[in-house]
This record gives sequence, structure tokens and C-alpha cells, in this order.
Amino acid sequence: MELVIQPDAECAAWLVASLIAKALREKPHLVLGLATGRTMERVYGYLVQMHREEKLDFSLCRTFNLDEYIGLSPDHPGSYRYYMDHHLFNHINIDHRNTFLPDGTAPDLKAACRRYEETILEFGGIDLQLLGIGADGHIGFNEPLSALRSRTREKALTPSTIAVNSTLFRRPEEMPTRALTMGVGTILDASNIILLVTGSTKSDILAKAVEGPITAMVSASALQLHPHCQVVVDEHAAVKLQAQEYYRWVFDNEPDWAEFRAPCPSRKVLPHHRPK
Ligand code: F6R
Repeated sequence: MELVIQPDAECAAWLVASLIAKALREKPHLVLGLATGRTMERVYGYLVQMHREEKLDFSLCRTFNLDEYIGLSPDHPGSYRYYMDHHLFNHINIDHRNTFLPDGTAPDLKAACRRYEETILEFGGIDLQLLGIGADGHIGFNEPLSALRSRTREKALTPSTIAVNSTLFRRPEEMPTRALTMGVGTILDASNIILLVTGSTKSDILAKAVEGPITAMVSASALQLHPHCQVVVDEHAAVKLQAQEYYRWVFDNEPDWAEFRAPCPSRKVLPHHRPK
């Protein structure tokens, strides 16, 4: 695991978008694992900008999202399909048939989960998985005590996740309390992982996830087992980290990071992608 501390959430998102863009340029058929949530809105804003201004090409890219609510139709504004179309897919040259999310409206949810895992394998596995973290340490919707080898399945959401995410619904009571999510094991199968964490409300859980013991109580702590996991955070999220000095030294000195060391350009994010 490598951890990079950026001055603010904007620069952290820009770095993550730049890492994704680099992977896509190196491998146009990239199989990209995607996340939703407030943290990712900036990343998708920058990817749209790179597509428009630098011709970043998504035409051959395939995407698999981590999760989807159970029972919401794709056109429901609270669904993750709607989120992805609105924040990314409708603004880039991706073939929509190559964008996959778990099917939370399937009559047989277990079969839909099995099929999702099979489809990922048919496409050769996920090359790069993007992750955010929940206040309870979840990645995807792997709430506390999710098995560290779990696969895509139904999951009941915790009261804290429901409280945080229901504010994104026009009527909070419309938010489903169950979701389909890739498992921790599914996520760990990705060849590369980028975890983006910003804001002071995430500082405690970030420290537990990356510097604490590996435990099913904090699903993100399983990322410590992954051989190619990059964690990108802002100064606010980093305040509780013990080894900050070392992380800064690695970013400032390791050759692999050289091309990303220039101060992040303060770029204009398109108005409809501006983080709220
Ligand atoms: C959503 C997902 C979640 C979010 C997490 C953080 O697809 O995978 O794990 O990444 O809940 O959400 P925000 O960014 O809204 O704090």
C-alpha cells in the first residue's frame, strides 16, 4: 500500500483522475471498477474534462460499479445507474453497453449476483478498482463484519449508512435499506486499487483502515493485503495518520510519482459537475 497526501480534496481528485487517465492511455481496453458517492463527483468531473479537452478516449473501456440499491429502477434519481449516467457516462464516449452495475431489480437477486461475478471474469477481471470509504469503514457496501473473502451479494445497510446516504434522496424514506455489492474478496481480486478519502469526517476511519489491524469490523482494512493499492487523501483526512512523514517522503522521492508531483492545476470543473 502507498499513501499520498494532497493539499486539498480538489488536488486529491485530480491526482486520482490522472492515475485513471494514465491507465486508460496505457490500456484502452481497461476494465475499470467504479464507485459512486460524493467523493467521486470531483473525479468524474475531471475525467469528463480530460475527455473534452485532452480527448481522453473511453470508447474501448469497460466499467463495473461496486454496488446498486435493491428495488430502484435505473431511471430513479437515487439509483447508482442514474448517478453514473449523470456524472460520467453521458458525458464521455463510452459505449453504454460496456457499463455494468449489479441489477438490483432482478427477480432472482442471487442469480444476478452470480452473473455479475461471471461477467467480470468474462472481461478478464478488473484492472483498476476505484474506491471510497464509508464512515463505518465500508468499501462498496461491505458493512462491518462482511467476510473478507465475500463475493457479490445482498447486504443490509447499517443505520449510519442509511442516515448519511438518505440525504441524497429527494424523500429520504425512499432510500432502500438493502443493496447488492461486490464482496471484499471481489474487490481484492482487482489487479490495482485506488482508494480516495477526503475530509476531516473520514480521518478516524482512514487511520483505522490503513494503520490499524486487519479486521472484518473495518472492511477497508482488508486493502492492506492487496499488493497494488494506492490511497490518495487530502490534508483533512490525513490528520490522524501516524506515518505522515514517511508517506510524504515516498511521494516526494520515489521515481514512480515524479510525473504527478507538479502542483495540481486549479482547473475549472464543469458547472454540472461542481461538487455540492
Ligand atoms: C458507493 C460506494 C461507497 C462510497 C462510500 C463513501 O458506490 O462504494 O462505499 O464510496 O460510502 O461515500 P461518500 O463519498 O459519499 O462519502
